[in-house]
Parts: sequence; structure tokens; C-alpha cells
Amino acid sequence: MRELADSSVHLVVTSPPYPMVGIWDDFFREESAQSYDEMHRYLYQTWKEVKRVLVPGGIACVNIGDATRTKDGIFHLYPNHSRVIESFEQLGLVTLPYVLWKKPTTKPRYRGKGAFLGSGFLPPNAYVTLDMEYILIFRKGSLRAFEPKDPQRYKSKFTKRERDEWFSQVWTVTGARQTHRGLERRVAAFPEEIPRRLIRMFSIESDLVLDPFLGSGTTLKAAMDLSRRFIGYEKLEDFSGIIRERMGQGSEKIVFQKQSVVEQVSPALAA
Ligand SMILES: C[S@@+](CC[C@H](N)C(=O)[O-])C[C@H]1O[C@@H](n2cnc3c(N)ncnc32)[C@H](O)[C@@H]1O
Repeated sequence: MRELADSSVHLVVTSPPYPMVGIWDDFFREESAQSYDEMHRYLYQTWKEVKRVLVPGGIACVNIGDATRTKDGIFHLYPNHSRVIESFEQLGLVTLPYVLWKKPTTKPRYRGKGAFLGSGFLPPNAYVTLDMEYILIFRKGSLRAFEPKDPQRYKSKFTKRERDEWFSQVWTVTGARQTHRGLERRVAAFPEEIPRRLIRMFSIESDLVLDPFLGSGTTLKAAMDLSRRFIGYEKLEDFSGIIRERMGQGSEKIVFQKQSVVEQVSPALAA
């Protein structure tokens, strides 16, 4: 993220490729990151940059799910969320209480494959279904400082109802209405409600919001609608069309550049 100066971003809202989750296997293979450790080492490079570009007191929100996989005949949990927390702690950020996003669409599977593996209602060999994802929240250093009665901050305030709902630990948010089903499913797009809430909770109008793993651009769209400035990166060029379309008139503010030096990412820059 070379085009971003140190301490220039107020909020990061992102969802990386998830280690050990089937749809991302090919992606990590192409990056020569095949073991669980290597996949997290790949993500760590981005977390390091996130730390560098955040302003003091800036917040990073990372949506990630755990994974399960049977390896060498043993069924195993891969707790991605705890590895991401370890990475951010290692970088010296402050870990704040996180959100558990309950996805109502995920149901336990009773027959054949899945949590019950044919054991039906018989103990003890079934396992619990992963039907939550994490929204991990980190802060760089101490609290952001504002002038008393800062007008932008007051303009950005949330209502009591929003506060009560958003600052509780379990969120039930239904899946996104997908306009490009194939592509959005391929990147596991999150519903726009997720970045909308996080942006309202942890930034004020005119702040700069970054998504280093853009996918279909959900975070940028929410940031634009909420009068924040925005910047994002996406490695796969295929997504530039869908991001542009999604941003509508806002796409005039986006510049796609091929940056072979920056690991061939395409930054979408706010004007
Ligand atoms: C889980 S998806 C993001 C989905 C997004 N939140 C949305 O709503 O569409 C992760 C994205 O990160 C991209 N990606 C992975 N590594 C990257 C890198 N080093 N630089 C930029 N983008 C990367 C992948 O191509 C993928 O589109």
C-alpha cells in the first residue's frame, strides 16, 4: 500500500481470504501459501501495512470465520480469528471486544456430511456447526482525540436505538442482495449492512476508510454513501467492472491502476 502515507487512514473495514476455507484454496495455492501457517503469514503482510497507515487511535475491523477440515483422517478446527488476534497483538495494536455475526442461513446438516457425520442423534461424536463469523476490532494506540464539540463528529452521531443494537456482541444480519451472483459469491461478499454499521460506529464524516481486500467493493460503496473518503485494493482485475458499476456515479472518484510492484494490486483511489 505504498501510495498511502503513514498515519493517513482513520478506519479499516475488511474481510480477507479465509485460511483453510475451500473457496480460497486455489487463491492461497497461487500465492504458494499452502499450510495454515503460511496462509496467515500471507495475511500478516497486509496487517503490518494496516498498522503503518492507520492514524493514532484509528480502528481496524476484520471480518473472518474459523474453518474446519479433516486432515490425515482427523477432523480439526482452524481458529482463524485467534490467529488474526495474535497477529495484531504482535504488531502492538490494542484488541477490543469483538462482534459475533450470526448468519441465519447456515444450518446444521443432519445427513451424510456435516456436523453429525451420520451419527444422527447419538452422542458423543458429532460436532458443533460453525454458524458465526467474527468481526474483530483493533485500535492503534490510545483513543482518537477531538476538539470539544467537533462539528463533524456531532454530525456523525448515532441514535440510541442504533447504539443499543450495534454495540451488543451478537449481530444477526442476513445475506446481501447480490447483483452479480457468480462474482459476489466467488469472493464471499458481506452484506452492505456490515460495513455500514462499522463505518458509522468507528469513523466520522470525511474520514478516510480503507479496504485492503476489496472483492466486489462493498466497503467502498458504504463509505461513499456515508460521506467518508475511501481507498481500496483488489488483486483480481476481474472485479474492476463490478466495483465501478456498484459505485455508480461515485466510480468517477475511483482510479484503477495496475501496480505490478505492489504485488499486482489495483488501488481504487478517492479523488
Ligand atoms: C473475502 S474477499 C472480500 C469480499 C468483500 N468484503 C466484498 O464484500 O466483496 C477477499 C478479496 O481479497 C482479494 N485479495 C487477496 N489478496 C490480496 C492482496 N494481496 N491485495 C489485494 N487484494 C487481495 C481477493 O482477490 C478477494 O477478492
